[in-house]
Amino acid sequence: MLSLPDNLTAESFLRQHWQKAALFMPHALPRLRPAVTRNELAWLATLDDVESRIVFVDRSSKRNRYRSETGPFAPELLANLPRRDWTLLVHDVEKHLPALRALFANVSFIPDWRIDDLMVSFAAPGGGVGPHRDNYDVFLCQGFGQRNWHFSDEEVPADPEASKDLSLLAEFTGTVVDAVEGDVLYLPPGAAHWGTASRACMTYSIGMRAPEVADLAYHLNIAKVSAKGLYRDPDLDPSEAVPGYISEAAAKRALRLLSLSDGQRHDVATALGRIATQNKDWLKPDGTSAAETELWLSHLLAGGGLAMHGMAQVAFDDCSLFVNGQNRPLLQGARRLLAEICSNRRLVRSARRDPDLAPVLTFLLAHGAFEIPESR
Ligand code: SIN
Ligand code: CO
Repeated sequence: MLSLPDNLTAESFLRQHWQKAALFMPHALPRLRPAVTRNELAWLATLDDVESRIVFVDRSSKRNRYRSETGPFAPELLANLPRRDWTLLVHDVEKHLPALRALFANVSFIPDWRIDDLMVSFAAPGGGVGPHRDNYDVFLCQGFGQRNWHFSDEEVPADPEASKDLSLLAEFTGTVVDAVEGDVLYLPPGAAHWGTASRACMTYSIGMRAPEVADLAYHLNIAKVSAKGLYRDPDLDPSEAVPGYISEAAAKRALRLLSLSDGQRHDVATALGRIATQNKDWLKPDGTSAAETELWLSHLLAGGGLAMHGMAQVAFDDCSLFVNGQNRPLLQGARRLLAEICSNRRLVRSARRDPDLAPVLTFLLAHGAFEIPESR
């Protein structure tokens, strides 16, 4: 877990900062391990199913301008980038390189269903994406090199002139820090920030997800909702962070945002779980066919193991199991099994000779929870 500064505990971090106020945490991570190399990142950016961008900074006039190009990129382009003033950003890196998911253990005091992705950027000196704000909480973990950050909880005006393809803010001073390897900057939703590589550097952003209230309403067939915006949990308690678990408190928050009565808690919890485990369209693991399901079910019931698919999103609450946006009732006897899958992202032996688990395992297999080896 992150080493929090100033005697902060996970509890006091959540109370004072989570969804509320930025915090720079020097030496919060002694070393970023595992990490990706610049070459691995460039290779990911050549692939079709990987979302990547290069942002170029034009410093030729008085005011900096920013231009963004989206991948996939040709290897020749990546090998011939200028010496300065660009950043390569790759999204969902942990879904393509599952070992990188280990970095999420650094924020184990946040429920894992709230984590969206690991974005990794490599910046040449002078590279950056310009002053902007994001809608979601983020932990910006500094890998090698050095990045100069400006950040502010104050209102900063937009600067539409700064870029045609990025929504940028006017340059601002705010709080200024130099992040070096192991430093972490936490930003709540909407905080203005602006990072520029003072030396070539790698930054690992653990970005959060939060369902849109409108999306929850859509799943519940509610035509009109007065509340807008995103699910919020500034009152998050560390006891809610159990691998894979969506707490009752989370469903109650969603219920309040939608101004619904407690009688609808189960429906709201189901909508929340489905949205929380939904995959991006191009990052959907395939489920097994009926014949494969039967084969792999016997393998698991005989005590065999399977790793979770790198793109799979599995969660559960007190009533339901959610797999890649689909739900089914939770069998109480399956809680231990799900806890194992969600914390280890693999299943080893736990299902041995327990035919009661068959419906749950069938559902997991058929909806793409596991990485199925090519041949057996
Ligand atoms: C970056 O890694 O270059 C950008 C991260 C951010 O500002 O959100
Ligand atoms: Co940002």
